[in-house]
Amino acid sequence: MKTPAEIIRREIAERGVLPFARFMELALYAPDCGYYEAQKENVGRRGDFYTSVSVGNLFGELLAFQFAEWLEELRIANCELQIVEAGTHDGKLAADILNWLQSNRPELFAQIEYFVIEPSARRQEWQRETLKPFAPRVRWLSRFNDSTVQRFNGIIFSNELLDAMPVHRFGWDAKTKKWFEWGVAIECGKFVWAKIQKPQSDLPSSILNLPSSLLDVLPDNYIVENSPAAESWWCEAANSLQTGKLLTMDYGLAADELFSPARTNGTLRAYFRHHLADDILANAGGQDLTAHVNFPAIQIAGEDAGLKTELFSTQTKFLTQILENTLRKKSFQWNPGHARQFQTLTHPEHLGRAFRVLVQSR
Ligand SMILES: C[S@@+](CC[C@H](N)C(=O)[O-])C[C@H]1O[C@@H](n2cnc3c(N)ncnc32)[C@H](O)[C@@H]1O
Repeated sequence: MKTPAEIIRREIAERGVLPFARFMELALYAPDCGYYEAQKENVGRRGDFYTSVSVGNLFGELLAFQFAEWLEELRIANCELQIVEAGTHDGKLAADILNWLQSNRPELFAQIEYFVIEPSARRQEWQRETLKPFAPRVRWLSRFNDSTVQRFNGIIFSNELLDAMPVHRFGWDAKTKKWFEWGVAIECGKFVWAKIQKPQSDLPSSILNLPSSLLDVLPDNYIVENSPAAESWWCEAANSLQTGKLLTMDYGLAADELFSPARTNGTLRAYFRHHLADDILANAGGQDLTAHVNFPAIQIAGEDAGLKTELFSTQTKFLTQILENTLRKKSFQWNPGHARQFQTLTHPEHLGRAFRVLVQSR
């Protein structure tokens, strides 16, 4: 079987310098051998990075409580209800949510269908194994606009999905006052960064429309990323929502953080065994690649598709609000382990501040 590095080498030999987004796509998702295709255990203690899901069951349980509250409102409207998850990976978050609903809201549980949007046959297999106990309630689709399903009523959501989508990487040339794109070439057998003078992806309006007063002081080679894949995924998700909420939790930037003078080198990172890897282009397919989500761009994509933005906040505020509601309604069984997990999920030094939550609705 070929490795991602071999596939990337062949493509560079055929096409020349590759936009970084294509490098990232092949490193993470090349069929059978990409980072997220070949490895199931890359999330969590034994993997390369933690997510809110790997902290424990509490994250899924709090989401389940909030989803139940939202779905109860739609149940009054008497329509069939769906929870739709993407970026499901090994299915753990889905299992935490379904478990909680089955035990705590059995009537609602009996009324919902849980959809997983999963393009990879390999990952679908992992998820089917984890979600066996809920088999009659769960359905898989490889994409949103599947001919067997109309639009969804309920909740479409993801956790740490958009940050795993390929990004284009742009650099600012202060001399010529033009943006160029960073691509990947091969030198002495190694992958190296190479400038593409004419960007291969359209620059997003958040970059193109920067005021000249900011461009005048932007340092040479200031780097920003953009993910057209994340924006078009959000747009498809928004168009698939007939009634209900579309939400995502991820680390990312708000409008006033996009061009911070303190971050000249962009947000693209590689992780291996819980450490930042020095070389983003090394170990293709063997390390995680990720970049902060450009939340203003995602928010606009949803609004352009007719959604209303209800909330953009930190994970701390979002989960604390849910916690307060569970206490008010006395409908949540707290145990000592929950307190520890809550602290990790919400503490600013852990997952609380860097993680943002965007909720839109139709
Ligand atoms: C960082 S992991 C997050 C896993 C899990 N949601 C969690 O929070 O632990 C990102 C996951 O999104 C998946 N993914 C990437 N692009 C996708 C897409 N277009 N549709 C569905 N899943 C995708 C990846 O394969 C990977 O399993």
